[in-house]
Amino acid sequence: MPLTERHVAPSILSADFADLSAKVREVMDAGARVIHCDVMDGHFVPPITFGPMVVSALRDSLPDEAYLDVHLMIESPEKHVAEFAKAGADGITIHVESTPHIDYTLSAIREGGAKAGLVVCPGTPPDHFAEVDLDLALIMTVNPGWGGQAFLRNQLDKVRRARALLGEGVAIEVDGGVNPETAAECAEAGATWFVAGSAIFKSDDPAARFREIASAAGC
Ligand code: DX5
Ligand code: ZN
Repeated sequence: MPLTERHVAPSILSADFADLSAKVREVMDAGARVIHCDVMDGHFVPPITFGPMVVSALRDSLPDEAYLDVHLMIESPEKHVAEFAKAGADGITIHVESTPHIDYTLSAIREGGAKAGLVVCPGTPPDHFAEVDLDLALIMTVNPGWGGQAFLRNQLDKVRRARALLGEGVAIEVDGGVNPETAAECAEAGATWFVAGSAIFKSDDPAARFREIASAAGC
């Protein structure tokens, strides 16, 4: 799948964990192709979510066209990326703030056969994006760790600066507080991938909500 296509990526963090596969299929039936998986270790961020076993189970239960976009909020990601790639992640994104070994870890992701992404927290400048080879740059539009937080509008300028830094060949993803209104603002600033968790899975009609965000984002 070319990463330069625009996508809304439903985040399973806000979905029913006892029924993940069915919840993901519902949004895939509405047109979703990128499924965002938030891995948290209780150290880099306080919550603990899931690891490679759940990624592998999702991979096995979903159609091949599902692109598993694995966002690692864990310390020392270099120790774990090979395992996530083996579990079936199509793309793995690591935090600038989580390791001094950014280039090494991105290379290890590619060696595992996955696309390599780099993410910055709200307080981190986008400059690192220009120092390494990337398939995707992720800009957090909330502080990482929890779904349902308010969109940080002061990150929009970072999206603009990242687009200027990277040109058109790299996907720019935004994550946190994305709804139809903020998706449109992010698209205008240069984002092309839009993660949405609570806006989709906490709504009464996730499929309709997915389509609404996709339309607002120009997908
Ligand atoms: C937060 C996660 C997000 C989260 C977004 O740390 O990285 O992917 O699911 O949730 P919403 O869309 O509810 O802000
Ligand atoms: Zn995320």
